[in-house]
Amino acid sequence: MTGAAGLAGKMTPAPPGSDQAPDPAKLLFGLEEPPPFPKDNIFPITWETETPRLLDFYEKGRDPGWSPATLPWDTLDPSAFTWDQRYALAYWFALLSVFDSSGPAVFARAMILTYETHEEDPIRKCFFSIVRDEVAHEEICQRAIAALTPGGPFGYEPETPLGRLAQNNARWYHHNGARYWEGFKKGISRHPLPILFTSFLMGEMASSTLFHWMHRTTTIPVFKEAFRRVGQDEARHMGICLTVLEKLLPKLADDQRASITKQIRAGYVFLSGILYEPPEQFWELPATWRPAHRLLEGTARAAGLGILSDEERRENWRTAFLKLKGLLEPHRIVFPAIPEIGIDGATVAFDPDDIIPVF
Ligand SMILES: [Fe+2]
Ligand SMILES: [Fe+2]
Repeated sequence: MTGAAGLAGKMTPAPPGSDQAPDPAKLLFGLEEPPPFPKDNIFPITWETETPRLLDFYEKGRDPGWSPATLPWDTLDPSAFTWDQRYALAYWFALLSVFDSSGPAVFARAMILTYETHEEDPIRKCFFSIVRDEVAHEEICQRAIAALTPGGPFGYEPETPLGRLAQNNARWYHHNGARYWEGFKKGISRHPLPILFTSFLMGEMASSTLFHWMHRTTTIPVFKEAFRRVGQDEARHMGICLTVLEKLLPKLADDQRASITKQIRAGYVFLSGILYEPPEQFWELPATWRPAHRLLEGTARAAGLGILSDEERRENWRTAFLKLKGLLEPHRIVFPAIPEIGIDGATVAFDPDDIIPVF
């Protein structure tokens, strides 16, 4: 036999009753559950909302309302600056990028953690939006450096001694950024969520303060607009962290309170690298770094970047810390001493592996 008739001859008839739909009630008798889910696995994934305010943050930030690509970059004319001014301006963005360009990687890790620890759905979504914002902030650094020093930060030959100092200083900052990342990678799974969030909050408070100042003081139009937009994003991140902390802080255990005290001091040490001056405690810097940095900051300030004076920076940093103190002390968290900016408190040990904050 060949063709259709042949094929039909080889077919086995269906078992009796198989033309009827199975009865769900009968199927239930044979029901079997899958094995238990492994600890710290992202599954099972569900979508609970415990804090509707977080969902509001996510909805409000869904459209950030700006893009680094559509800022008025065409108004930034590199030839309007001297070589040294260009190096100094690009230098500041290279320093900023140690904080803002680590943001995407740092928050992406944290976002994975929120899945593994089965945080409520809006927390996971908020972290996603922070990752997206940080990519935009990184792009600001990238675009500013590319416009002022094509090939920068490291792939060009500076024409002046100050330019060479700038490149060496930036490389040392990246060296310290690498040390931060090594500590962060270990710390992210070691610290419970309230501690991570307090550290994140410090970074967001610091960054929203920084961009707010610089928006007010810079005279370079594209940076004025960039700082305004980045500052808005950072204020949203701060709101997210505050909302999460309102939920977490009342439930702290004693050892968690003690870790937060240490974390605040660690955050001060790390974030002062951009907000004030890098303390000796963490920052590994050569003897030329500080004098070169002063020269470069002075040059960038004269070019209109909007870098505040030491006194103004100290005052702003102090205000941010006093706010944090007001938030944490009602939850019986001892505040660490930060004598550098005139804040009394407990003396705490410093461990470079404790540094968690991010912009
Ligand atoms: Fe941020
Ligand atoms: Fe940022």
